[in-house]
Amino acid sequence: MTDSIRELTILQPDDWHMHLRDDKALATTVPHAAESFNRVICMPNLVPPVKNVEDARAYRARIMQHLEASNVSAERKAAFDPRMTLYLTDHTTAQDIELAAQSGIVQAVKLYPAGATTNSADGVTDINACVDVFEALEKYNLPLLLHGEVTHDHVDIFDREKRFLDEVMVQIIAKFPTMKIVMEHITTSDAADFVLSQGNQIAATITPQHLMFNRNHLLLGGIKPHFYCLPILKRESHQKVLLDVATSGNPKFFLGTDSAPHATDKKEAACGCAGCYSAATALPLYATAFDSVGKIDRLEGFTSRFGAQFYGLPVNESTITIINTPMQIPASYPYFDGSSLTPLMAGETLPWSIKKSL
Ligand code: DOR
Ligand code: ZN
Repeated sequence: MTDSIRELTILQPDDWHMHLRDDKALATTVPHAAESFNRVICMPNLVPPVKNVEDARAYRARIMQHLEASNVSAERKAAFDPRMTLYLTDHTTAQDIELAAQSGIVQAVKLYPAGATTNSADGVTDINACVDVFEALEKYNLPLLLHGEVTHDHVDIFDREKRFLDEVMVQIIAKFPTMKIVMEHITTSDAADFVLSQGNQIAATITPQHLMFNRNHLLLGGIKPHFYCLPILKRESHQKVLLDVATSGNPKFFLGTDSAPHATDKKEAACGCAGCYSAATALPLYATAFDSVGKIDRLEGFTSRFGAQFYGLPVNESTITIINTPMQIPASYPYFDGSSLTPLMAGETLPWSIKKSL
């Protein structure tokens, strides 16, 4: 812990990868996101997915309705700015991309290999069929956000990210050398090294859980379903490299929580859902991770500057203060239809909290 720093005021962060879900779930997720973040890249893996500009516009409107109806302060309501993504399918066309680029509300396009994770059944089955779409992304400078895992049944779950880099990523960058790409939620030293080896058009987001935990936390002493997410937590040596690059000050690595709500009973189940929920507590989580290696001074770049820089957007003007005062993460939040939502590190105490404005 950095004894000297008790309080840290940083530019308001943005979250470049978040799942808000839809309809009644938004009553919980939107206020949580809006308390900490200005811009939030909203993942499109709804049921059905956000496939075109019209879907994106309608989804954004539903988010904004829930923001208005919430008890978030007027100041935070004015600052919150959900940015939309489209979900690539085998049927997405270059024209869909052109319309997205011209829409002013679509910030990026998300590629889920079919079957990779929650609601990815409509994802891309053959990357070679995406040539026109990738050409259009390159032409319009719209970033491609990758869930970078291969999905073949025979590939070990712990190897799926590396196999994606070796077998798919290499092909993509060879054919589309100037396409902007974010490797989302990276989990391995292989992915970190890959991003470091590429030009500035390739960046990565890192979640709080991949900085703070490894597969022992998930599996030792009993299965902990609230640490289960995809890509799955890897061994400690990977966690250490992620913490190294996140706190290095290299602008290729920035905040993307991948906060992914699933009701508690869907996680604590014989076939539990993948996803860690961190929307409300992400900033204290990241602060704790950075402080654990004495790098709290590097937090602002990661949380509030590098993502905006990558997306070609101005940094936020407002600030937020975190304070070295412990906070307890709630055991759960009320979720829709009487269900509950168990956050990452539920019930545990973090050394950092967000300072409430007076
Ligand atoms: O753990 C995950 N949950 N990983 C993803 O890629 C998707 C997400 C979700 O939507 O629940
Ligand atoms: Zn995600």
